[in-house]
Amino acid sequence: EKGAYRHFMEKEVHEQPDSVQHTLSEYLDLVTGAAKPQSVNFATVDRLQIIACGTAFYAGQIGKYAFEKYAGLPCDVEIASEFRYRSPALTPGTVAVAVSQSGETADTLASLTWCKAQGLKTAAVVNVHTSSMAREADVLWPTHAGPEIGVASTKAFTAQVSALLALAVAAGVARGRIDATREAELVKALFEAPRLIAEAVESHRDIEKIAHDLAKATDVLFLGRGAMFPLAMEGALKLKEISYIHAEGYAAGELKHGPIALVDEKTPIIALAPLDEVFEKTASNLAEVAARGGPVIMIAPATAPAPHGDGIRRVDAPDCHPLIAPLVYAVPVQLLAYYTAVQKGTDVDQPRNLAKSVTVE
Ligand code: F6R
Repeated sequence: EKGAYRHFMEKEVHEQPDSVQHTLSEYLDLVTGAAKPQSVNFATVDRLQIIACGTAFYAGQIGKYAFEKYAGLPCDVEIASEFRYRSPALTPGTVAVAVSQSGETADTLASLTWCKAQGLKTAAVVNVHTSSMAREADVLWPTHAGPEIGVASTKAFTAQVSALLALAVAAGVARGRIDATREAELVKALFEAPRLIAEAVESHRDIEKIAHDLAKATDVLFLGRGAMFPLAMEGALKLKEISYIHAEGYAAGELKHGPIALVDEKTPIIALAPLDEVFEKTASNLAEVAARGGPVIMIAPATAPAPHGDGIRRVDAPDCHPLIAPLVYAVPVQLLAYYTAVQKGTDVDQPRNLAKSVTVE
């Protein structure tokens, strides 16, 4: 079933151009360049409350940035195990959105059921379309990643991000924030993701070289701004899960408020730096790290200016529309974890202590 691949995770990373394309097509029409109408009337929704665990939570945070930026739709995202037990205050015009690959994660399902009982409209972004969450929610927002075997989520994550980005565009149109010209531009940008993901997958040799060094580290920091911040946390989670190396994801601007104290020559710092409106800010954070002797690996387009400082290594990533950067940059993040784990000889598809579906609290 793995075909020519060594691991399911490697296969699933390579499947992403297809799974992203398929998922985007659920929500967007490539031919007309329009977002498909949704049964949720975004024009009358006051707030989204996304609830998820783990990787799906990070996808939710990326979704939040898009819903607020492109649709002006307030959006909260919370870890289901916290949401479930803390008596959150709900407001009537809120739609609760569970995000889950399996659709069976106990805390996410319980949160969804609770929101429904409180009288909220509910939706579920799920990959298993016959799952408990798919049946429980008022609205099913499917992802089309196909079966994911590797315990560490890859293609399910990019499918979740694809669905949420596409829905953010649909919401922006419904709320009058996006006109027809802008809609066509954003839809076109989203459909460029599969090709750029494929391009990112092809440039794995650079990543393999970096992974060789990462395998020797005991701690790694991932940095990013904007949607790259949740992706940095996802990168850290992936590395922890399969290579057992301690890693943290931080908002690049938060570095000087504490974690910069960790910087030394043995702690690699991976920066996710697409050419967007905050690139310069990220670059200056990297210069600060480099000045303190931290080995920086900057993942950025080849056309991006070089930040000041010795010891900044670069890995080229495809240049892309900022909307799709979390999809395109997910690939180097996943491959870094993958090749580091391969280098360390861990059980990539079945990491210790982890289960694919967490149906207990
Ligand atoms: C990480 C991972 C987990 C899941 C989490 C939620 O690679 O796979 O963090 O994302 O357990 O699972 P689902 O999406 O099935 O609710």
